[in-house]
Parts: sequence; C-alpha cells; structure tokens
Amino acid sequence: MSTPPRGKLPLPELAAMKKRDEKIVMVTAYDAPGARFAEDAGIDVILVGDTAAMVVLGHEGTTVPVTMDEMLFLTRTVSRAARRPVVIGDMPFGSFQVSDEKAVENAIRFVKEGGADAVKLEGAGPSVSRVRSIVEAGIPVMGHVGLTPQSATMLGGFKTQGKTAAAARELVAGALALEDAGAFAVVLEAVPSPVAAEITQRLSVPTIGIGAGPDCDGQVLVYHDLLGLTEGHLPRFVKRYASLSREIRDALEHYAADVRSGAFPGVEHTYEMADEELERFSSSSPSATSPKNQAKATATRPSKIQSPSPESDPPVRKTSPR
Ligand code: KIV
Repeated sequence: MSTPPRGKLPLPELAAMKKRDEKIVMVTAYDAPGARFAEDAGIDVILVGDTAAMVVLGHEGTTVPVTMDEMLFLTRTVSRAARRPVVIGDMPFGSFQVSDEKAVENAIRFVKEGGADAVKLEGAGPSVSRVRSIVEAGIPVMGHVGLTPQSATMLGGFKTQGKTAAAARELVAGALALEDAGAFAVVLEAVPSPVAAEITQRLSVPTIGIGAGPDCDGQVLVYHDLLGLTEGHLPRFVKRYASLSREIRDALEHYAADVRSGAFPGVEHTYEMADEELERFSSSSPSATSPKNQAKATATRPSKIQSPSPESDPPVRKTSPR
C-alpha cells in the first residue's frame, strides 16, 4: 500500500505498544461524528464493525445481512473524518468466504473505495488463507477468533467460546495461524480470561479483547454499547460510560412538547427584515405582518410558554451559513 497520510498512527506502532506494555484502545464507529469523537478522545484504532447491521441498520440480533456496499458507505464516512486513528473496515459475511480471490477483491474495495487503512475478518480455519492472500496483496489484516458473530448460528448463539481445554487449545492454534498468515493483530471475543492471557503471551502481534479479560494488549467496545445508545440486553462484557439513549429520548420529547406548545421557535431562533422592506411587502400582501406587528410578535412570542432550559446550551454549528 501507499505511504500513510501524515499524522496517521503508523501500524507497526501497535506492535511496539505491545512490547512497551502500553494498552491499545479501539472502539467501533460508523459515521463521521463518531470518528471525530474517537479521534479527539485519543483512541488508537477505529473499527467500522459489521455490528453496524445491529446498532445502525436495524437488523435484530445478527450481523449477517449487512452488505459490502453498506459497509463501504459507512467506512468512507469514518475514514473521511479520522486522521490519526487506524481505520479498519470489517469484512461482512459473504465478502470473504467464497475464495481467496474474492476476499482480496473485497479487501481492495475497503481500501480504495472505503479509505480504510486495514481490514478485519472473522475466523481461523479457512479464513487463514484469506488473511494470507490479503496481506500478500499489501493490505494489513486484523484477525478475529472466539465468538465470531457471523457464525453465531453454527456456534449455537452468542456464547462464550473456548470453555473446554480442547476448545481453548483450538483457539490458541487459530490465533497462532492467523499471526503466521500475517495478521497484524487479533481480536479475541468472549473467551475466558486465562485463554486470552495465554494467546496474548504466545503471539508477538497484539491481541485486542472484547469479553476476553484484562490481559489482552488492548480492548475494543462497540460505540453504541459503551455510550448507552443500545437499549435492551447487553453482553456481560460491556461497560457503559454514558446513558445517551435516555438523554436523546428526553431531548426529543422536550422538543416535541415545545413545538406543540409554541415555546419553540423563540425570538432568538427567528429572522427579521428591515422595516421599510416589510412595509413594502405588507402593502403588496395584505395578510403579511406590519413592522409594528413584527416588533410585537418578536417581543411576545418567547414568553408564550416558558421552555425549561437545557442544562447547557448545545454548541453552535460553526459551518452554518445562516
Ligand atoms: O463488528 C464489530 O463491531 C466487531 C467488534 C465487536 C470486535 O467485530
């Protein structure tokens, strides 16, 4: 691939962080605001995850339906906004299973059309040769073992993996094979902590855990889960750092009430026109407000219903042309 843009976190830095015992922070994002928030928070890696199927696109309990075109659209919005963090496009179900060639073709689309710095794909086994082929094509790949949601049906649901000694050994072997194929990091999802610790110790590339305990080289959480935008059941491994869905619901209810009562818009949200122009306008249009009434209207309207003011005013959009 070409030289990364200036300011981009160099990919080998992730392995260097592992060596320095410095934790890698990864989060998912699906749009430009999310990417900007992540960048400003100093996040190292942004994954445009196929969890988009559930948290953005409205599919219930499955990541399988999200398409390449949908993932590319989302990845483009994120990579446009994220300068420093490494942006990884998550290869959706069907985009890499068929053959190494198809996998390379779709990985190239993530880089060329999506602006991704790297791709991630699920599984070991047949996925190992996909990883090798994509890396040979010059595209960095992140592996993903343990609970791999695209295969949730085969795995018997969204369940912890590697809970028996045999299954744990298989996970270790899978992660080692992905490293051998050239993966620059491996996500470990929903595996017992001792298994994740063993894999982390055996790999020279970083492990990124999600429900894999504290010994991984880094951690990832889904944006909507950690911010409290996801409603309903959350996996045990999620820690919520905010309750945004409650705030959004309150704000929307407040807005609806304000519109219905007339408390919004207030004078500060409305535009006036010069009195002489309004005079001319009124004389040509009998129902229009006269300059006298304009003053009266703007003076009286906001006090019609007092809107409870939010705790802090929202930031003004700097780019507003109005
Ligand atoms: O799609 C996704 O968001 C993921 C993370 C949970 C690792 O694969």
